[in-house]
Amino acid sequence: MTTCLEHNSTLRPLWILAEEHGVEVDWIGFDDTGYVDPDEVVSHFGKNTKAVVMNHASNVLGTVQNVAPIGRACQERGIHLVLDASQSAGMVPVKMDDLGADIVCFTGHKSLMGPMGIGGMYVRDGVELRKTHAGGTGVRSAERRHLDEYPYRMEYGTPNLPGIAGLRAGVSWVNRLGIGAIHAHEMALWKELREGLAAIDGVTLYCQEPLVGERIAVLAFNVEGFEAMDIGTMLDVDANIACRTGLHCAPMVHEHLGTATNHGAVRFSMGPFNSREHIERAVSAVAEIAASRRKSHQRSC
Ligand SMILES: Cc1ncc(COP(=O)(O)O)c(C=O)c1O
Repeated sequence: MTTCLEHNSTLRPLWILAEEHGVEVDWIGFDDTGYVDPDEVVSHFGKNTKAVVMNHASNVLGTVQNVAPIGRACQERGIHLVLDASQSAGMVPVKMDDLGADIVCFTGHKSLMGPMGIGGMYVRDGVELRKTHAGGTGVRSAERRHLDEYPYRMEYGTPNLPGIAGLRAGVSWVNRLGIGAIHAHEMALWKELREGLAAIDGVTLYCQEPLVGERIAVLAFNVEGFEAMDIGTMLDVDANIACRTGLHCAPMVHEHLGTATNHGAVRFSMGPFNSREHIERAVSAVAEIAASRRKSHQRSC
């Protein structure tokens, strides 16, 4: 079982499992505020449900899901909960016991401040993972089969040591500042950004109100009359502001929002190095873009 909030890093493996390995996958939607209803997930459990694989924090909507009730229900039924914490790790607490997760996957280059190309998987004791590949491990080289013992079972080839060292340095930095302080800083900026953008005529914010649950500081929007990617280009070229446009590797989110046909949305994400001045510049750049359409529309009328 999974949700429509997932990133392609989850969706595509699941599609392969469904299409090539006969695994049945159920997709649970999200509501207008960007949250999956835990009761709905649990109500879909069947005799053959083996795992729930779900996003902790959406990379498009920023909503942090209420995972604990799902985790508890999974534990009662012997179902594995696999959590994608790529957006939440380093930003909000990810406590496996409280959430009832058996496996937590994360990427290193987001809020853990590591380099690209490194990530990890935390696996609860007693959860067995099947080998997916085979390769060199650097030990017991006479064995013909890939080793069963950990960590070698999951290590196929030379480890990415620069990535591991970079991730360690990133995590130490985050721990020094404290994730609470980083999250509070980013959310204060996010709040200003959200209020600034909401006040602009022609801007649609996605799942940003009412503010009901926990969040991380990403914000997706569109401006009436523009393709998302054109807004991205104008922000980049005219205002030197970085954003991410398109489907954000989460096509089902955009299908659900009805934005897939408009080539997605524009997403701003706040980081620890952003300041109020950045937010003010971003809001005025978007306001200028929205006003440019109104002016050209008036001219053509
Ligand atoms: C929610 C989510 N899951 C997974 C990933 C994938 O991370 P990676 O590209 O490192 O596999 C990302 C980011 O790109 C993400 O935002």
